[in-house]
Amino acid sequence: MLDKMKIWKSTKEPDTLDERIEECKSYKIPDHIAIIMDGNGRWANKRALPRIAGHHEGMKTVRPITRLANRLGVKALTLYAFSTENWIRPKMEVDYLMKLPEEFLGTFLPELVEENVQVQMMGERSQIPKHTLKAVDKAIDATKNNTGLVLNFALNYGSRSEILQAAKSFAVKVQNGECSIDELDDEQFSSLMMTHHLGDPDLMIRTSGEIRLSNFMLWQLAYAEFWFTDVLWPDFSEEHLIEAIESYQKRSRRFGGLKSEESQ
Ligand code: FPP
Repeated sequence: MLDKMKIWKSTKEPDTLDERIEECKSYKIPDHIAIIMDGNGRWANKRALPRIAGHHEGMKTVRPITRLANRLGVKALTLYAFSTENWIRPKMEVDYLMKLPEEFLGTFLPELVEENVQVQMMGERSQIPKHTLKAVDKAIDATKNNTGLVLNFALNYGSRSEILQAAKSFAVKVQNGECSIDELDDEQFSSLMMTHHLGDPDLMIRTSGEIRLSNFMLWQLAYAEFWFTDVLWPDFSEEHLIEAIESYQKRSRRFGGLKSEESQ
């Protein structure tokens, strides 16, 4: 089977989406992909539509991207749906964004259950409206035994605040005599982050041409490969996800060391 695949690869460039997906699967798939879904507002502006129309279209993009990630065998997909900084947007826009999880999960939860996707959320819960949390918690509960892709919504998430929280909880442990300062290392600190059970992202994608992290997973993205595109999130398609993964697969990750052939 593998030999057949190699021969096929050497003689024919894959062209249909299905062929590219299969080709992609024969190389290392990133275990954890994190996405900054940016450009909804500009997508709407270009069409003289209200910004919320862009968010609605952006919500629709989540479905095919989740399905494809699951099909590829990605273990976790973290989506930056609302940052701790987004509260300063007009109230009407914030209210709308807080309704999107309900709309999305109201429609797609049965499909997520069926496709073995497990929904999770990371972020500060206390400020999130009850109706939003209700929809998210319902989905978390309904999918808790699923073993496929973890679809992790970053909702009211801010990385600096997450890091400060982790630092504070370690300080409390020291104060209570549960551990000593010397015990604090990468592993220990990672275990205090909201992603402790997911592992760090291997690939971070940001759409819309912005080339910055915007307070997203600053600790966890230390060794991730970054892939930026000018495509606005509502236009981000399965082909774009494949393109990002193909680019990831061509890169050599050294984690600060040397490539194996260089170290000989
Ligand atoms: C940034 O684009 C996007 C957001 C602040 C919201 C992202 C949310 C979604 C894509 C929908 C999430 C879906 C679910 C299911 C929760 P922007 O508005 O800043 O775009 P702009 O920079 O062009 O103005």
